Amino acid sequence: MDNRAVGVFDSGLGGLTAVRQIRSILPSEDIIYFGDTSRVPYGGRSHETLLKFARQDVRFMRSFDIKAIVVACGTVSTNALPELTAENDLPILGVVDPACRRAAALTRNKRVGLIATAASVRTGAYAYAIRQIDGDVEVISKACPLFVPLVENGRYRPGDIVVETVAREYLEPLKAAGVDVLILGCTHYPLLAPVIAEVMGPEVRLIDTGAQAAWELKRELESRDLLAEDRRGRALYCVSDRPEDFGLLAGQFLQEDVPSVREVDIEQY
Ligand code: DGL
Repeated sequence: MDNRAVGVFDSGLGGLTAVRQIRSILPSEDIIYFGDTSRVPYGGRSHETLLKFARQDVRFMRSFDIKAIVVACGTVSTNALPELTAENDLPILGVVDPACRRAAALTRNKRVGLIATAASVRTGAYAYAIRQIDGDVEVISKACPLFVPLVENGRYRPGDIVVETVAREYLEPLKAAGVDVLILGCTHYPLLAPVIAEVMGPEVRLIDTGAQAAWELKRELESRDLLAEDRRGRALYCVSDRPEDFGLLAGQFLQEDVPSVREVDIEQY
């Protein structure tokens, strides 16, 4: 039993897809969330810059007394997870492996699509992880750099002509390639799931990386005997810029009040 909080971070709103699932399957856990809104998007950055940002994000998370960290960001998971786990003496979970295990289990025709940021696709980390699980699976990858700025601006709902046009351009090649599973390899993308599902059609299963990471967290806390006692867990939200905008969109997405969002100077970490 351990009542300390779990730290969850992302470049912005995307990691809330993990938070939503954690609050549903681990309702007793306290969560401290950090969204690096002053530096979002991460997806076009170099490996070196991402490593620097990731280390600062973890240092900020560790300024609290936390028991585990969920890197609810595909871009940081693909670029910095080995360094972060080697440098820190607490469980740090990324989004790649849980999503890839789920994709390999679900695909029937062994053709899996991956959409993610350019920085994630460049590493080949998702394709590598799937091949480790099942060498017969072919992974067809596509970077979707416009998705994150659209989501951060609240443009993710079906019926929005801009986001629908962008989604068709990115996704039609994957549909034509006949994938039967599509990994939403950036945690922002599940906010676009209704739009993505409309293009891909009902026969393609979508994998929500944030949600899969939440299940992984549950397994990890259970196996290490780190679950919180039975109670209603609380959430603290911190961002590095525009706390009001974040609070508004986060509240809409989580379907709960996000009344106060703390502003943090991440460069100090
Ligand atoms: N949500 C993050 C990811 O999963 C970051 C996206 C970005 O900031 O470009 O990749």
